[in-house]
Order: sequence, then structure tokens, then C-alpha cells
Amino acid sequence: MAKNPVRYICTTCGAVSLKYQGKCFECQSWGTLLETRTEPEESGRKKRSSGSGVPEIQKLLDAGPEEFKRHLTGIGELDRVLGGGLMQASAVLVGGEPGIGKSTLMLQLAPRMAPAKVLYVSGEESPNQIRERAGRLSIRAENLLLLPEVNVERILAAIEQEKPGLVIVDSIQTLHSGEYQSSAGTVTQIRECASMLIRKAKQLNVILMIIGHITKEGALAGPKALEHMVDTVLQFEGEGYQRYRIVRSVKNRFGPTNEIGVFRMEESGLEEVGNPSEFFISGRMNGVPGNAVLAAVEGSRALLVEVQALVSKTGYAMPQRISTGFDLKRMSIILAVLEKRLGMQTWGQDVFVKIAGGLKLVEPAADLGVAASVASGLTGIPVDSSTVSCAEIGLSGELRAISDCERRIREAAHLGFRRIVLPEANTRELKPSLKKLPIAIAGSRTLQEALSHLGIG
Ligand SMILES: Nc1ncnc2c1ncn2[C@@H]1O[C@H](COP(=O)(O)OP(=O)(O)OP(=O)(O)O)[C@@H](O)[C@H]1O
Ligand SMILES: [Mg+2]
Repeated sequence: MAKNPVRYICTTCGAVSLKYQGKCFECQSWGTLLETRTEPEESGRKKRSSGSGVPEIQKLLDAGPEEFKRHLTGIGELDRVLGGGLMQASAVLVGGEPGIGKSTLMLQLAPRMAPAKVLYVSGEESPNQIRERAGRLSIRAENLLLLPEVNVERILAAIEQEKPGLVIVDSIQTLHSGEYQSSAGTVTQIRECASMLIRKAKQLNVILMIIGHITKEGALAGPKALEHMVDTVLQFEGEGYQRYRIVRSVKNRFGPTNEIGVFRMEESGLEEVGNPSEFFISGRMNGVPGNAVLAAVEGSRALLVEVQALVSKTGYAMPQRISTGFDLKRMSIILAVLEKRLGMQTWGQDVFVKIAGGLKLVEPAADLGVAASVASGLTGIPVDSSTVSCAEIGLSGELRAISDCERRIREAAHLGFRRIVLPEANTRELKPSLKKLPIAIAGSRTLQEALSHLGIG
């Protein structure tokens, strides 16, 4: 066998192939195989111990050496996403599109860790660029140490020497280890550098925040294994040209997932948005067909969100279906149900659906809001502006029960809405205290009934 065989590594899932293929045999992604002449993983590395002997086994109820502590950053929206602050010795991966604010948020964290030292490892920007940003954000942190370095062995030595409380790596794609010949950013380098840093962080009780780039499809670049290696994965969402940024916990070993924090990008940095519902429905225009308000639940919080639909006669042979912030396949199902069960034809019409504010909604309870906005856009009849909707829609046009109704009802009442449309199945088990709120609860069995509560049809 050749000494340095050519291998093809999938940049998405890390699978290794001996011959080039257009499509990865493991994760089925197209065009992701990267040629590498790196030595196979096993060679070129120090030999691992054979692992003989019985390791120490502990009882669950035995006292551990010490309790893990959480560090509240004082940035409320970030603490919420982390499940109550940063966990000692944890590794957090922070992903997001270029320019969305990853470095800014990390820099804002630094003074909040004082008196513990913060080591900011930068492979992308020079110390002067970081100083310039810190000046703009009015950050004067005595505890912040800048390390312009990309060699992971030297970074580990710096961590040993400085013993910081927090290490920020900006970004993992720029690092490389001298133990491997492949260049920075390859799957092997990303995985091995991250693994070395995480091991060191756990050993020295250091919190590690790793910034990672994302692919054009929006997934974190590098091996999928990177997400499994860390304790928490935070993703920035939002549209770069808007001021609003959403930080979502995609994975969290120490708190709930899908929790979101809402920020506004100002010249002075990322500022928390106190009442996200007010922000998500702030710019809405009442009485305009195609606009509807739905009550979503993200993590432990209910949020009112505006959904907009534009339905217009197509100029193409194939009508366009475009959705921002809502799954396109789900939107197609809703259009089919509207057509088949309610006779609302969208054939020959372009349909555009948009969740305002750059939020991405994945829960099925958003279905009714989307259906209402499309039906409104199609008929030209505005949705009643004081009514909120939330329900999953079944293929027969029935409304299916959803979770967390109480939180949705309370949030809608809190923001002054006068009616909420829910699946009838949910209204049977509501607490009597909810019925005393100044909001009418309209249970509906079908999409048709729900639309009539919303003022359409
Ligand atoms: N003078 C300024 N006034 C207002 N906002 C600014 C200013 N300078 C930068 N910004 C904001 O900061 C954003 C850049 O933030 P940051 O560098 O933290 O992003 P990033 O996610 O680290 O990007 P990258 O992936 O390129 O490193 C810009 O997109 C812009 O929104
Ligand atoms: Mg950056």
C-alpha cells in the first residue's frame, strides 16, 4: 500500500472514501468529497496506550470531587439560551453566517468573566482589529488576553501557562495541529484540534467557546462529529441586513434545546431585546390581506410572530413557491389542504410566505398561522387583527392538538389580543384560570372553522 494514499474525506460527515465520488456514500451530500494526502488517521500519531488494567468504576451516589458551577454572564438572553449561564469546563460551539455577530458576542462576554482571565485566540483577525472592535463596543477588560495563533499545540501551551477561566477560539477552521499534514479547515484538522482543546478544557476546568463557520446550506461546517463532541451548540439566525439576531441552542447538555435569545445589533454591540413578541409583531400593518399573527413556542418561551403571505398571478409556466423561515414542504402541504378541502385554488398563483423578523419556525403549531395568511392573501380578506392562531393542520383539514397551549394563551393575552384560535382538542383540558384572562378562546375542529373565527370565509 502506498505510504501516503490519496483519500477523499466528506467535508459534511467526515466519511472517508478511497475513490472519488460525486455523492458521499454516507450522508448522500453532493460535491463534498475533498482530496487529501494526509496520512491515515492511525499513522502519524502517537501510539495510544493499549488500555490494559481495570479502570476506576464509581457509584452514582458517591460524592464527586467537586460540584460543577455555572457562571452567569449577565447577558440575560445568552444565559437563557445556555440554560442558566455557562457551565464550568463545558465546550460551546457557536455557529453563524459571516458578519452575523459571533466575534462581537464573544468579545462582549470577556469583561463579564472578570476577575477570571479570558484568552481570545484569534486566527482570523489581528490583535489590532480586535482592539478596534473592543474600542467601538467600549470594552476595557483588564482580564482579556489576545493570542493571535493558529497552531493548536502552542494554544494548548498558552492555556496551560495562563490558566484562563474562558478560552474563545475564533475560529476552529483556522487552527491546525503539527501532528497532521493536512491544511487548516480540513475535516481531520477541525476534528483533532477541537478534540485536543476540549480535552484540555475539561482537564483544567476551563470554559471553551469555539466559533465555527457554516456552510451555504446553513449547517455548521466541518465534521458532524464536532457537534457531538461539544456540550452545547449555539446557532446565530437572522438576516444579515436586518438588525435583529437570534441565538438558538441547537444542542445543550445542560439545559433545554431550541431556546432562543433575541438581540439587536447596534454600533455598541449586541443588545438584548427585552420583549421579543413585541419586536416580532412590531412592524405589522393591520387590515392588509396576507398578514396573520401566530403564537409559537421556542424553548421555554411563547412568542407572538407575524407571518406574511403574498399570493399573486404567476407569469411562469410553473408557479413559484418561496418560503422564508418556514419549511417549504410543509407550506406545500398546507396549499394542498387549502385546495382540496376548502376549494381555495393556488394553481396559477405564485405564493411567497415569510416569517417576519428572521425567525425560523419548525413546530407544527405554526401551520394555522401560515394557512390563514395564505387564505387571506388569496381571497384579499384581511385576518382579524386582534386574533392569534396556533394549530397543526392534518391532511383531512382537521386541526390537531398542540403542546404548551397555556403559555401561548397567556402571551397573546399579555400583548392585548382579544381572541386565540386553538384546536378544539386543546380547549377541553384548559385550566379554569385561563378562562378568566381577557382573551376569548375559540376551539376549532377544522381549518374551515378556524378560518371563519379569523374572519376569512
Ligand atoms: N460601526 C458599526 N456600526 C454598527 N454595526 C457594526 C459596525 N461595525 C460592525 N458592525 C456589525 O457587526 C457585524 C460584524 O460582526 P462580527 O465581526 O462579530 O461578525 P462575525 O460573525 O464574527 O463575522 P465573521 O464570520 O466574518 O468573523 C457586522 O455585520 C455589522 O452588523
Ligand atoms: Mg468573526
